[in-house]
Order: sequence, then structure tokens, then C-alpha cells
Amino acid sequence: MSETSRASGVDRRAFVKTLSAAGLGLALGGPPALAASTVRRRRRYAIVGLGARHTMYQAAIEKDYREHAELVGVCDLNPGRVAVARKLSAKHGAQPPPGYLHTDFDRMLAETKPDYLIVTTVDATHDEYLVRAMEAGVDTITEKPMTTTPEKCQRILDARRRTGKQVRVLFNYRYSPPRTQVKDILMSGEIGEILSVDFHWLLNTSHGADYFRRWHSQKRNSGGLMIHKATHHFDLVNWWLGAVPVSVSATGKREFYTPAMAKRFGLQSHHERCHTCPEQDRCGFFMSLAANPQLKELYLDQEVHDGYFRDRCVFRPDIDIEDTMNVIVGYDTGATLSYSLNAFNSWEGYQIAFNGTKGRLEHAIVESTYVSGTDTVQGGIADDGVTTRVIPLRGAARPVAPWSGTGSHGGGDQIMLDDLFLPQPPADPYRRAADERAGACSILIGAAANESFVTGRSVAVQQQVHGLARPDYSPMPDRTGPLPMPDRNARRT
Ligand SMILES: NC(=O)c1ccc[n+]([C@@H]2O[C@H](COP(=O)([O-])OP(=O)(O)OC[C@H]3O[C@@H](n4cnc5c(N)ncnc54)[C@H](O)[C@@H]3O)[C@@H](O)[C@H]2O)c1
Repeated sequence: MSETSRASGVDRRAFVKTLSAAGLGLALGGPPALAASTVRRRRRYAIVGLGARHTMYQAAIEKDYREHAELVGVCDLNPGRVAVARKLSAKHGAQPPPGYLHTDFDRMLAETKPDYLIVTTVDATHDEYLVRAMEAGVDTITEKPMTTTPEKCQRILDARRRTGKQVRVLFNYRYSPPRTQVKDILMSGEIGEILSVDFHWLLNTSHGADYFRRWHSQKRNSGGLMIHKATHHFDLVNWWLGAVPVSVSATGKREFYTPAMAKRFGLQSHHERCHTCPEQDRCGFFMSLAANPQLKELYLDQEVHDGYFRDRCVFRPDIDIEDTMNVIVGYDTGATLSYSLNAFNSWEGYQIAFNGTKGRLEHAIVESTYVSGTDTVQGGIADDGVTTRVIPLRGAARPVAPWSGTGSHGGGDQIMLDDLFLPQPPADPYRRAADERAGACSILIGAAANESFVTGRSVAVQQQVHGLARPDYSPMPDRTGPLPMPDRNARRT
């Protein structure tokens, strides 16, 4: 960015009235006034949900993409986090946007007139904000998962159709270079068309355990890990295959993060939270909010407003999400997926194998350790953590030098932000930008799995909603044409 444009981003008069707002110290009022040319040039964004994840978007808008974007409003149910977000603007050298409580969300849209709303709230509330923004004529961008239940999904599909406004779902995993490379190999036809996939995702006892501390530990907030976490993985498979899920059977249980396990680890009991835990010196799952400045500012210091504890005991009995899940998915192409997700493992990452008519693609990533809200890199890839190889039906395996990137989610977040915020992003042969159709296809697998956990029956994925069209995918290898006969003299791997 040029120095001139950097200056133009901050050289503006702000008309932000600081009101006591029921003693909450919120800044309320209209958007800052800008030169007319600047308003025309830059897209206006508002953000609802000002926790850990939103900071990436705020930094992108106020720093890296400030030539093209401006933040015109921020909103959250916690006034403390509204204030923290506004302070962050100042740290970015930007004029803090007006802040709003969630009860004033519609007023924020009316007063700040954003082109786009970015939704980074708790998963189960995404639908509410997406629908209200579309009804107000605003295009929307949402963090994954798009939503948590088929009913909420239907609301979004209906609002999208009714209003003609956009829903963009941010599937950052698609953008990480080694995963894009897998798509590239599958599109090339080197292993033919895919008949089945074996996919195993492991969460370790740092990142995995963290889901059991927070709002994620309640299905009413997150849909459980089948929705909250596996939405990434189901979307990857849907997109990698260019296919639509039709049936799901699944089993799920919670056996590790339980009160009984606390006792087996030698604790007297589970407790309410780490901050006040009488056994914190003995617990390998202890997390100190007070010791980490970011966690303290974002969560501990803001508890007074909403009573939300970020460090609840991972062994609490009221947790209702699973830690061990196995899923079988059938696709419209005939392909089948065998998937597992396990939240208490010794390493974090995944192994996947695509079994094709001309060979097999094996791919694995070991991720580095991550805890949300800290300096650790989310979805960062461990050194030499990517392995990819292609094995023809007969013949020697071909090791694949991985495409690489840096930063969160293996470099995927940065590429996704370019795609999102640049006015003319580069053409994308992989079609990584996802809308509500892909958002739905991924969460509906998770919702079907949740139902199958309870009923023990197979669930028809598409019947959970109506009016869901097929997502746009890049062309994949033909499933009916002639195939080369495997060479019977070739060396077997
Ligand atoms: N793509 C990724 O890799 C990735 C990574 C992390 C989080 N996420 C997603 O981002 C979203 C936010 O996650 P997070 O880690 O920042 O969580 P967080 O708990 O740190 O932040 C959530 C914020 O939403 C606010 N909030 C809750 N309910 C609200 C409501 N009804 N109205 C307004 N604000 C409300 C909370 O006060 C909080 O500030 C989630 O949907 C999560 O799944 C995606």
C-alpha cells in the first residue's frame, strides 16, 4: 500500500459521540465522515462478534487491505469486547468505528450502511445476523460453520432467495496451499475418479480439550464437533470430490472429557473452572486466563458483563458434545467417505487417502499446537508436517513436493483474505470461494451425523432442507469414459 493511501485511510474526521450508554462506556453514533472519493473506492464492512476470530478480519480491513476496505461498525453482546475492538482500531492506526450492543444490531446497519456484514459470533447465532442483514439489503460473509441446524440453514436459504443478497462462507482450509494442491491433483485425473475416501482427523489434548472449556461444549451453541469442527473437513471432501452428500450414518460418544475421567487422572472431582480450581496445580488441563494478556483482556476482564467463563472445567458433567465420532457419507457421484474425528489425541492433524480408478492419493498434515486467543498459530503446519504421495494402481509411488504457505491455517487465511478483500482477486481455477450452498452441504452432513448418533439410522442429507441447489465446482475427471488397462508387468509398490 502506498503512503498516500495509507494516509487517506486515517486522515478523516470522526463524528463518534462517546456516550455513557447505560454506564457501559460505548461509543455510539453515525459512521465517521470521509471524502466522497474514498467512500466510493472502499468497501464498507461491519463486524458482529468481536472475539478471538474477528481480530483477523479487523486487522485485514484496517491494515493490509485498508486501501480497499473500511470498518464502519462493530457489534457484540459484550460491551467490554466492543471496547477492546475499538481500542484495536486505534492500535491499527485507524479511526475506531462506532460500537453497538447486539440489541442495537439493526440500528448499526441502518446508521453505518455497510456493504458487507462479517459474522463472527457464536455458531448458533450466525443465522440470526445473516438473515437480518440480508433483509436490510446487506451482503453477508460468515465464518464457518454457516449455521448449526437444518432449520436455521433453511432460514438462511430462504432469506438468500427472498432478498437476492449474497452469503459467503469462509472455508479457509480450501485455501491452504497443500490442500489446494490435493484438489489440483484430483482435478488432473492422475488417480482417475474417486470411488472412496478414508479420512481421519485428530485433535490433540491442547486444542481438542479447548472445545470442552468454552461455548463449543454445548450443542445448542456449536452443534457439537460434527458441526463446529467437522464442517471444515466435510466441506473439504465435498469440494475435493466436487460432489454432494446424500446419506450419512454415524456413531458418537464422549468418553474422555468426563467426570469419571477426572477421577481416573487422580483429581478429587471435576470443578467449575480453572481460574478458581482447587486442584489447578495437579491438573494437566489447567489453563490460566490471568497469565495470558490476550486471554485476560478478551475474556477474563469481560466476564463481569456477560458471565461467560472461557476456562470451564473440561471434565464437567454438563458438557453434551462428543469426543469420539465415526461417520460414513455417501455422495451423489457414488463415492463414499469413511471419516473419524477424535478430540483427545497425541498429535493434531489428519491422514486422508483417496482411492481412485487409476491409483491412490495419500496425504497427511501434522499441525502445530494451538490455543485460541493466544499467540499460537491456528492450523499452523509443523516443520516437514505435510506428506503427499500418489501411487498408481501398479507402479512406483510418486512423492509430491508440497505447495507451501505461511501463517494461520497453513497459509490459507492469507490467500483467503486476498480473495475476500481485493477488489479484483486473481481468477481461481479451484473455485475456493464458497456460498450458502457449500455452507449448507457441509453442515447438513454434521446435522445428519448428530441425528444418526441418536437414532442409529442412516439420514438422507438433502431431505433435511428444501430448495438447496448444487454448489459450483470445478470440473472433475469423467466417471464413465475408457480407462487405461493396468500394466500387469509393472512393479507393485
Ligand atoms: N475458520 C476458522 O478456522 C475459525 C477459527 C476460529 C473460530 N471460527 C469461527 O468464528 C466464530 C467466532 O469464534 P471465536 O473463536 O472468535 O469465539 P469467541 O468466543 O472468542 O467470540 C465470539 C464472540 O461472539 C459474541 N457473541 C456471542 N453471542 C452473540 C450474539 N448473540 N450477538 C452478538 N455477539 C455475540 C461473544 O460475546 C464473543 O465476543 C465462530 O463461528 C467460530 O466457529 C472459525
